Amino acid sequence: VVDIKGGPDEGLDRLGQTLGVKGWVRTLRVQSSVTFIEVNDGSCLSNMQCVMTSDAEGYDQVESGMITTGASVSVQGILITSQGSKQKVELKVEKLVMVGKSDPSFPIQKKRVSREFLRTKAHLRPRTNTFGAVARVRNALAYATHKFFQDNGFIWISSPIITASDCEGAGEQFCVTTLIPSSREAVDSPANAIPKTEDGLIDWSQDFFGKPAFLTVSGQLNAETYATALSDVYTFGPTFRAENSQTSRHLAEFWMIEPELAFADLNDDMACATAYLQYVVKHVLDNCKEDMDFFNTWIEKGIINRLSDVVKKKFVQLTYTDAIELLLRANKKFEFPVKWGCDLQSEHERYITEVVFSGSPEIKAFYMRQNDDGKTVAAMDMLVPRVGELIGGSQREERLDYLEDRLDDLKLNKESYWWYLDLRRYGSVPHAGFGLGFERLVQFATGIDNIRDTIPFPRAPGSAEF
Ligand code: 4AD
Ligand code: MG
Repeated sequence: VVDIKGGPDEGLDRLGQTLGVKGWVRTLRVQSSVTFIEVNDGSCLSNMQCVMTSDAEGYDQVESGMITTGASVSVQGILITSQGSKQKVELKVEKLVMVGKSDPSFPIQKKRVSREFLRTKAHLRPRTNTFGAVARVRNALAYATHKFFQDNGFIWISSPIITASDCEGAGEQFCVTTLIPSSREAVDSPANAIPKTEDGLIDWSQDFFGKPAFLTVSGQLNAETYATALSDVYTFGPTFRAENSQTSRHLAEFWMIEPELAFADLNDDMACATAYLQYVVKHVLDNCKEDMDFFNTWIEKGIINRLSDVVKKKFVQLTYTDAIELLLRANKKFEFPVKWGCDLQSEHERYITEVVFSGSPEIKAFYMRQNDDGKTVAAMDMLVPRVGELIGGSQREERLDYLEDRLDDLKLNKESYWWYLDLRRYGSVPHAGFGLGFERLVQFATGIDNIRDTIPFPRAPGSAEF
């Protein structure tokens, strides 16, 4: 028996056939002559309504009270037109098999539970409508990301997770430590096996087989090496930031998409960022209709219209100076005062996106290309409503002497960037790229307001349990 999967319209062409569904019981309604069991297998938002009468095989399990919310079941029956208004088809049950019963302590019994509560149940929250929908939309965005870049001739590069460099130079890195090899402590309690010096301090010489190493904050520098050999490339993988911030937009572990374009400048970079965002948003609107309707009704009213505008409308481009002027003219007192040269804070980004959809540069990592004015760099951010900064990108400094000066100015160690400088020694080309925080994209596309609800197992201060 073939299982039926996916979508409210699924099965309309298979009426009268014997089909199956395997999934988890959402609700059970026992009425005098029939029992309704709503089964969800995660392939779509809607449940399969299974209608059962007492003559069906396995009905004793309903009678004995074993079929409860959370239990896993395998059901077979004939697909028929539903009389109910909520679904088009339903399964007239011939046979019900209980696969795994659910203890009465199953914590997601109620129809609506708060997302704060569900964060403490990260192992069970994908069983809810909201987290099922987020997982499917996240998947669609990942698929569309690869599709967009592959169709445009970009090559996907795996950048390393363990690295010695700090791309953003902000010192927000997690350090990699080698545990005392195969010690009893390492097995019983990894924390006790962190190598210590005689005075009880952590022995940093033991880091990564004797050299310091960190979890990457960005794959950009590695992507640049491949862009200066294979032309357009992109990375898509996990990155880490040791920011001890409890905000709704920051995670300690997040996925980043980082295209790097060879023989390209900042305008090419912005055009790529815009085309990419429009493509993935359109993909989700076209392919995740049921889930998007759900978000539109329950999470953020009007999100479908807002996303449709992203696909149709031109993005507003704003220079840094214009953005500062806009903020100075704002009839609003900001917590962080605005003046030319300051880094834009979330409150400023929010204000700007309330007024316009925009792109604007921020403060200056060492690799950003210096403009002719000698004081600004060729960088951009893409800000979107509700999320703020979604993308940060720049044209890279391809001139060896400028880059060396810049490293000196920032007192960064030139020796450790020898390989990065080599790219400027051997066939340097103008190139540009950007980084997009994947979880912020999921926030933007679903309307979910806390970033911790956009990734299956969020890593943030105080949450690494699951
Ligand atoms: O602006 P950022 O720090 O830029 C870079 O890392 C560049 N090396 C990218 C590049 O040009 N290849 O980070 C890029 C994006 C931000 O715009 C934001 O969307 C996201 O990464 N991001 C975070 N997302 C979640 N949690 C955090 N702690 C984040 N920090 C940055
Ligand atoms: Mg940034």
